[in-house]
Amino acid sequence: MSLLVNATYISECVIPLERREPEIAVLLARARTANSINQVNGALLFTGTHFVQTLEGAPNRIDGLLATIVADPRHRRVQIVDRRTVAMPRFNGWSMAYSGSSLFVATIVSQATAAIARGGPRDIGRLMRLLEEIGRDNQIRP
Ligand SMILES: Cc1cc2nc3c(=O)[nH]c(=O)nc-3n(C[C@H](O)[C@H](O)[C@H](O)COP(=O)(O)O)c2cc1C
Repeated sequence: MSLLVNATYISECVIPLERREPEIAVLLARARTANSINQVNGALLFTGTHFVQTLEGAPNRIDGLLATIVADPRHRRVQIVDRRTVAMPRFNGWSMAYSGSSLFVATIVSQATAAIARGGPRDIGRLMRLLEEIGRDNQIRP
């Protein structure tokens, strides 16, 4: 089986507050359609202020998509926090799992951004586990 790339970034949402919910719904619907065509899977978290997204697929697809996403004016300060090659798909069957804002998600994301800002070891293990859980939870829902 060919290798897959899994890349994760954190960014700051700049969609005006009153338009966030409907615009994210549209963004998500389009991303799901495009990702299923391109055989890209992943999970997106929104904390109320930040996005965290993990994308998994063929290396050229992921790198191309990341370049598009980094340039997207709906967010800024896109920081790629992890990029790895994986042999087994971890978000298989889910074009883009989604979790909206919650205090729990926001806390884990702000701890990860603080750790990255300190420049210490990029301890994003908790964040990655959360993303994987969201992928799993979404898959068992109809
Ligand atoms: C936070 C965020 C996540 C996104 N996730 C995806 C995604 O998973 N798949 C995708 O095709 N586009 C995603 N997009 C949208 C892309 O940036 C871009 O608008 C889309 O791919 C259409 O690009 P095009 O107009 O150049 O074809 C995302 C945008 C943002 C701001």
